[in-house]
Amino acid sequence: MMTVSFKSIASWSILWLMVIQFVPLQRINPPADSEIQLPDTIKSFLKQACYDCHSNETRWTSIAYVAPVSWLTVSTVASGRTALNFSTWNNTNNTKIKRSRSKIRSVILEGTAHQRIYYFMEPSAKLTESQSRELLQWLKATFEKQESTGFKN
Ligand code: HEC
Repeated sequence: MMTVSFKSIASWSILWLMVIQFVPLQRINPPADSEIQLPDTIKSFLKQACYDCHSNETRWTSIAYVAPVSWLTVSTVASGRTALNFSTWNNTNNTKIKRSRSKIRSVILEGTAHQRIYYFMEPSAKLTESQSRELLQWLKATFEKQESTGFKN
């Protein structure tokens, strides 16, 4: 009868963890060439809470270098950038921008539920209640004013 000892599982796991560190990953930050134009405070809030996944200015923290966690990080950033990218905002077509506008509001209302693991790992990225309130007020005011221009500025 074959028995798999704890020791052999442990050593295979360690070997596996060592090997997967060599799987190449792309942690790249392409140029932020058509970044959204925003008032400084508003931009600082978005940089704090959203830019790691929704811009080309991702802060790749040390956790992004240790496989298999790094695989999750890299793929989350990739799908985050596809869904919404503030660094290429001005090149985004109006239909997509219109859709994002209302979704940004609901994501801010959702709070950390949007990316629970991330905000748990990066507590300083969380928006405070007053930051969220300010963002929501700003969004509302801007949307109403800029209905016609597609939120491009
Ligand atoms: C840890 C990465 C991460 C962070 C931080 C993050 N997001 Fe996301 N976001 C994603 C991913 C991945 C998706 C796409 C999948 C999904 O909808 O969950 C997404 C989707 C979205 C969408 C939907 C876009 C669309 O058109 O469907 C919006 C809007 C959005 N995020 C806004 C924000 C805002 C605003 C913040 C900051 C308050 C933020 N996100 C922070 C990863 C992140």
